[in-house]
Amino acid sequence: MTCIVVAGAFWGDEGKGKIISYLAVKDKPDVCVRTGSVNAAHTVFFQGKRYALHMVPGAFLCEKCRLLIGAGANVHVAQLLKEIELTRVENRIGVDKQASIIEEKHSVQDRTSAHLKGLGTTGWGVGPAIEERVRRTAKLAKDIPELKPYLADVAEEVNQAIDDGKLVILEGTQGLMLSLFHGTYPYVTGRDTSASAICSEAGVGPTRVNEVILVYKAFMTRVGAGPLPGELSREETIKRGWFELAAGTGRERRSAPFDFELARKAAKINGATQAAVTKLDILYPSCKGARSYDELPAEAKQFIEEIEKRTGVPVALIGTGPEPLDIIDRRR
Ligand code: IMP
Ligand code: MG
Repeated sequence: MTCIVVAGAFWGDEGKGKIISYLAVKDKPDVCVRTGSVNAAHTVFFQGKRYALHMVPGAFLCEKCRLLIGAGANVHVAQLLKEIELTRVENRIGVDKQASIIEEKHSVQDRTSAHLKGLGTTGWGVGPAIEERVRRTAKLAKDIPELKPYLADVAEEVNQAIDDGKLVILEGTQGLMLSLFHGTYPYVTGRDTSASAICSEAGVGPTRVNEVILVYKAFMTRVGAGPLPGELSREETIKRGWFELAAGTGRERRSAPFDFELARKAAKINGATQAAVTKLDILYPSCKGARSYDELPAEAKQFIEEIEKRTGVPVALIGTGPEPLDIIDRRR
């Protein structure tokens, strides 16, 4: 059995979509389970086309991969149906019958509720939808006629796939610093985002996971309110070439240099066995498109080795450009 969890280390937008797209193309997984919700956008570039996926699992690039949305997820029905059409995955996508539903009223509450004011939420309604689920009044996927063709028992399917020795990816969303439990509370999302929570949402027990790939970006970014240690000014962000717009909301991302202490904390709490570092080519432009470690300049190698030293986790994947195969793969 091989079950891989992919989790984010910082405030989301570390490039999980990019790493999962590489695993999809290279390792050809049999099953990929998306957790979390529509607030997260995973960007996948493929053959010049850019996808910002809010609901469909990032491994859709692998045509044989069964795509699942876990019981712990919150489903935005219209967005899901739109993405199913865009990615043409109607024959291989399944939604757990117990996943809960985000309704229009939740989005309104997200934008107008006094208790959420100032947090800079994405406005998709994910927090209010989770509140509703906790009250045990939420609608579930099985209550929605449009979802009928896709209903699945995700925990059953994914555990069977693991039993059958298939390759399974559990796809996390956001990052540890946005975790309801371990992040910068109250400036966090409405759920735990750690590797354990990803397993729990999919219905996979902790003894069944082989690898936790923790994704770091070579610098840190954050959208919305809340602390960002070492935050740079907007001018400095632009000067360094670190300026980004959020894939989901179009908001400007704030930026800061990589923080090794936060990286260590994220590695611990996620139980990371491997690290991925994305956008090394933004930090060191001469790395662009590199596909072997030997091609990297000394300062880039030093940076990677410092991450390994400070986190105790080997950096197995290094992103050097947006396409799935722009990567240095140091896995055995
Ligand atoms: P919510 O998840 O929409 O409730 O927003 C809570 C906080 O999490 C805000 O600061 C959002 O900007 C942030 N957030 C939620 N999802 C993402 C994501 O996918 N990437 C980056 N930030 C996110
Ligand atoms: Mg994102």
